[in-house]
Amino acid sequence: MNHLYVSYLKIEEKKLAQQFADKHELTFASPRQIRIKKGSKLVIWITKDQILLQDLDDKNSKPFFLNFHLLEKEKSDRGLLKKCFSKFDKSCKVFDLTAGFCQDAYCIANMGFEVIAYEKESWLFEFTKSCMKFSKKENLKLINLNSLEAFNTFTQKDILFVDPMFEVNSKSLAKKEIQFLRKCIPSSLEREIIDASINSSAGLIVIKRHKLSNTKQSVKPSYVIKGKVVSLEVFDRRGF
Ligand SMILES: C[S@@+](CC[C@H](N)C(=O)[O-])C[C@H]1O[C@@H](n2cnc3c(N)ncnc32)[C@H](O)[C@@H]1O
Repeated sequence: MNHLYVSYLKIEEKKLAQQFADKHELTFASPRQIRIKKGSKLVIWITKDQILLQDLDDKNSKPFFLNFHLLEKEKSDRGLLKKCFSKFDKSCKVFDLTAGFCQDAYCIANMGFEVIAYEKESWLFEFTKSCMKFSKKENLKLINLNSLEAFNTFTQKDILFVDPMFEVNSKSLAKKEIQFLRKCIPSSLEREIIDASINSSAGLIVIKRHKLSNTKQSVKPSYVIKGKVVSLEVFDRRGF
C-alpha cells in the first residue's frame, strides 16, 4: 500500500494536523519532510476549516475536497444508479456498506431514500463528513463502522449497496478521488462483504462491478444494469 501522510499548509495549523494524525494512527510529517521523502506520497492536509487530499505522485495534482453540489450536476455519471434505484420502493432503507466518499450514497439519498452509509476507515469517515457539512442531507447518515458488524440488523425490507474496491491499475478509468482511495485502502476484505451481503436477509442487494474486475460470485444476479465501464448487479429476493 502507498504511504499516507498527514500535514499542514499553514504553520499555525501544525498542531491540528498532529492531532488528526494521532487520532487516526497515521504518520504526521511537515511539508518539507514529505518533499524529501522517497516513494509514493498521498497527503491529508489539515486546515482549520477543511480537510483536503492530494496525491503528490501526480505532478498536476492540487489539494481537493468533495463538492457535493457539483456532484448533483454530474447527471451522466450517476445515471446507472438512478436507473437502478428508480425501480425500488422509497420506503425501503438503503444501507451503503462501502461508503468511501459517499458520492453514490448522496445520489441515492437525493432520490428520496433514507440512506445509512458505513465507512470503516476513521480518517476517511472524518474527511467525507467534513465535506458533507456544506451540503447536509437529513436522509443520509454516515457512520464510522465496519459494515461486517451490522449484518444481523438487516431485514427483508432493506436494500444493501456495495461498491467494492477493485484492483484496477489503469489510471484513465477512475476519477482522481477514487484513484486516491485505490492507492491507500487495501482491497483484501471486499470478497467477505460481498459474500455476507448475498447470505444476508436483505430483500435487495446491488453490487457495483467494474468491467475489469474478475471477481466472480457463485450466485447469479437476478439482472444486471450495464454501463460502459461499470455495471450494477441486482439480487432481488423480495417475496422469497
Ligand atoms: C470503492 S470505495 C466506495 C466509493 C463510494 N461508493 C463513493 O461513492 O464514494 C470502497 C470503500 O469501502 C470501504 N469499505 C470496504 N470494506 C468495508 C467494510 N467492511 N465496512 C465499511 N467500509 C468498508 C473502503 O474503506 C472504501 O472507502
